[in-house]
Amino acid sequence: MKILVTGGAGFIGSHVVDAYVAGGHDVAVVDTLQTGREASVHPQARLYRVDVASPELADVFARERPEVVNHHAAQASVAVSVKEPLEDARVNALGTLNILNQAVRTGVRKVIFASTGGALYGEPEGMPVREDHPVRPLSPYGASKYAGEIYVNLYGRLHGLSFFILRYANVYGPRQDPYGEAGVVAIFTAAMLGGRTPVIFGAGTQTRDFVYVEDVARANLLATAHVGDGVAHVSTGIETTVNDIYRLLAEATGEGGAPEYGPPREGDVYRIALDPALAARTLAWRPRVGLEEGLRRTVEWFRVSAP
Ligand SMILES: NC(=O)c1ccc[n+]([C@@H]2O[C@H](COP(=O)([O-])OP(=O)(O)OC[C@H]3O[C@@H](n4cnc5c(N)ncnc54)[C@H](O)[C@@H]3O)[C@@H](O)[C@H]2O)c1
Repeated sequence: MKILVTGGAGFIGSHVVDAYVAGGHDVAVVDTLQTGREASVHPQARLYRVDVASPELADVFARERPEVVNHHAAQASVAVSVKEPLEDARVNALGTLNILNQAVRTGVRKVIFASTGGALYGEPEGMPVREDHPVRPLSPYGASKYAGEIYVNLYGRLHGLSFFILRYANVYGPRQDPYGEAGVVAIFTAAMLGGRTPVIFGAGTQTRDFVYVEDVARANLLATAHVGDGVAHVSTGIETTVNDIYRLLAEATGEGGAPEYGPPREGDVYRIALDPALAARTLAWRPRVGLEEGLRRTVEWFRVSAP
């Protein structure tokens, strides 16, 4: 199949590209390399350095004529979204609308949309959170990703464009940027291996739902093959405290004394875990890589291959 992956030079998108290529698909990538890296793009995939919110996107669609579009390109930082909400909306809301418009114009069959579970629901009413939980984002990022979802749903109704929306928990694994403000596993791992003391914001008792990036890539393959539209969490349903992540990474790296503790960060939810039952029912997807194994693989990658 001909598949266009936006954000295919980024952390998650590059693993999705690898999985598509391994599945025998013909892949093209659209990415500005804003946070992504050319070196992460699979050599068999064609890279277009084009902004998803720009008019030049039309040329890529005209040339590639993809059957499926997998949309991972985004302004993916919560902190940047608070500082620059208009730029965040330009990329995430208007960029998604531009993708959908081009998809309909050129006869794309299906769109896969990488959305967020962690930034959508606010402080959850109960755990683990299901997909029908009220949407109450705490950041412009959560709002702009949800705007993308609404447009994807709309294009399904208005134009019959088939879609699947994947709402990710906290994704971790090889190629995650350790220098951004998010991605606690990558940040702690790089700090420990570099001999620096990681900082935990707050008491470290806050929880997250950590899902390994190869499991996420496999969910994308299943969503691509799935017949019918849908939305589902890509998550484990398991809460892990930041203190536990610190301890497990200290063991896996063999480094890391006591952490430093800093003030809690505004806009972060305190606890979250997302119910993966719907993905199991609709896509027959379940996470395969447990946390300790996933962290071990991540640490190994940072030791050997991190840029
Ligand atoms: N990492 C997570 O835990 C997580 C959780 C929930 C949702 N997501 C979503 O998954 C997707 C990928 O996130 P990631 O963590 O891999 O981040 P990332 O920053 O590594 O990937 C985003 C990619 O999009 C590219 N990009 C940015 N702006 C662009 C633009 N205007 N046009 C074209 N390309 C552009 C970047 O260069 C980068 O390669 C995003 O849509 C994000 O919202 C990630």
